[in-house]
Amino acid sequence: MTGQAEYNDPRLVALYDLQNRWSADDGFFLALANGQPGSRILDLGCGTGRLTVALALARHRVTGIDPARASLDVAQAKPGAEAVRWIHGTAEDAPEGAFDLALMTSHVAQIFVEDAAWAEVLGHLHRALVSGGRLAFDSRDPAARGWEVWDSGDEHEHLTLPDGQELDTWTKVEGVADGRVTFTGYTHFPASGETVVDRSTLRFRTEAELRRSLVVAGFEVERIYGGWHAERVGEGCGELVVVARKPR
Ligand SMILES: C[S@@+](CC[C@H](N)C(=O)[O-])C[C@H]1O[C@@H](n2cnc3c(N)ncnc32)[C@H](O)[C@@H]1O
Repeated sequence: MTGQAEYNDPRLVALYDLQNRWSADDGFFLALANGQPGSRILDLGCGTGRLTVALALARHRVTGIDPARASLDVAQAKPGAEAVRWIHGTAEDAPEGAFDLALMTSHVAQIFVEDAAWAEVLGHLHRALVSGGRLAFDSRDPAARGWEVWDSGDEHEHLTLPDGQELDTWTKVEGVADGRVTFTGYTHFPASGETVVDRSTLRFRTEAELRRSLVVAGFEVERIYGGWHAERVGEGCGELVVVARKPR
């Protein structure tokens, strides 16, 4: 599991939407949902609700689950949030047989570092879906070695928040081994002189590992794309975009 100050510390949560703008990944998941109007959707690891609220505004019936209270507070303050059912919890809190589509977006899948934890989450999502329901998520392809550009070296990113607060952020990659990448995010607040340090580990599963884990959990893999425009694996943007189904 990661350190996760990024999702739990209100000072860092305030940065999340600034650093994660709506983009092609969100468009992909929204279009997938819109293929079945009025879907019952579970957004596991919904965070600040960027996609969750957009799904509800598109007239789906949406449940967002996240263990980070500070992220849910931001989500629940957004216009349209009142149409979402918010659950402060984890996959095990998902109701049974209640969803046509389950999502984990912005690489939530990689938070489950150990295979046992990943298998457990897939089991809960399988239980939460109706027969024939779909699961979709993204996971970075280890073959693309994306972590090689994560370390910012001596270059700090300078940000100004909407309230005028200034801060600097930078990242150090600590280690890469056994499909796990450990890195530390630093956020310095000049006004207080404080630096928040957030050490995380993410798991990079191969396409074959994802396929195996899904089959063991009882899913059929429909498609795995390499990017947000239905590219083949290896020809997109270093993503593994998975669409799987709970058999009827
Ligand atoms: C990278 S953010 C993604 C947020 C959102 N899905 C998005 O697209 O912006 C990862 C989210 O996963 C949540 N998370 C962490 N551990 C989790 C767990 N065990 N179960 C479900 N979500 C978890 C974090 O709190 C955080 O909100």
